[in-house]
Amino acid sequence: MEFPRHLLELETLTRAQIEALLGLAGTFKRERARARSGEAGPDRRGLLRGRTIVTLFFENSTRTRSSFEVAARALGADVLSFQKEASSVAKGESLEDTVRNLDAIGADALVLRHPAAGAPRLVARAVKASVVNAGDGAHEHPTQGLLDALSLRERWGTLEGKTVAIVGDIAHSRVARSNIHCLTKLGARVRVGGPSTLIPLGIEKLGCTVAKTLREALTSADAVMALRIQNERIADARLPGARDYARTWGLNARTLEMLPQGALVLHPGPVNRGVELSSDVLDGPRSLVMDQVDSGVAVRMATLALCLRAEVAA
Ligand code: NCD
Repeated sequence: MEFPRHLLELETLTRAQIEALLGLAGTFKRERARARSGEAGPDRRGLLRGRTIVTLFFENSTRTRSSFEVAARALGADVLSFQKEASSVAKGESLEDTVRNLDAIGADALVLRHPAAGAPRLVARAVKASVVNAGDGAHEHPTQGLLDALSLRERWGTLEGKTVAIVGDIAHSRVARSNIHCLTKLGARVRVGGPSTLIPLGIEKLGCTVAKTLREALTSADAVMALRIQNERIADARLPGARDYARTWGLNARTLEMLPQGALVLHPGPVNRGVELSSDVLDGPRSLVMDQVDSGVAVRMATLALCLRAEVAA
């Protein structure tokens, strides 16, 4: 199985490539858990020793950036954290010139988050380094899709035959797109739902169905993933206010009754407590949210190891 040198999107990955990555990520996740409980395990810092990984985030991030950096260090790489405000981008240097210079400095991988869909592909054409997409506009966020799949697969064993509802701002969400591709390739059914202005026309072409109400989305679902309204990508007054949204599409103790017993709740973060999820749901027993974050480090370790051709067996 060949893994691509760049991870730009999940749409074009095969099921075998996704499964290889999840297998390796699962191994790293178990090793990290054992190490935290004081057990000795393999030292993975040889895998990317001497390699340089640059994180370039042109949008805000808490989880994604820090987990890529922790992942890179766990594999022994040197990490350089590019700060847009402190760089020559603030002096007018273009994205392509910026990345060409980082390439010349000797970066082996560039981890890029950018508000423009397609920016990582553009960068991949301009540099020798591997490029990993950490979220590009409303296009894709491949490592998020993979980490969600890892958390679900660990709970269920397989995604085959499961139904996952994705609820919220589908139109502007790169997380929704990556998840639709990933979950359907792994054999799950995906249903999307949200305010009608936030459901893109023709989304069914990606292989999902559309639910018109929260009840329709949640009925007989095995898991629900709540998404934040991407206010920063919307210049539209027809948006529901936070209170309205919470009443019709928010998950709380009352609306959770629409889900079967034992169904799981996910959210990629950042959560607006009381809007997409009430606090008792976010912190409750069905929530996978902290496990998703834990999966994120392991998935990013596996991504960097595979894209950079580290010699590792899953
Ligand atoms: C998401 C993102 O940036 O796409 N966050 C994340 O990476 N976990 C989702 C969001 O911002 O709502």
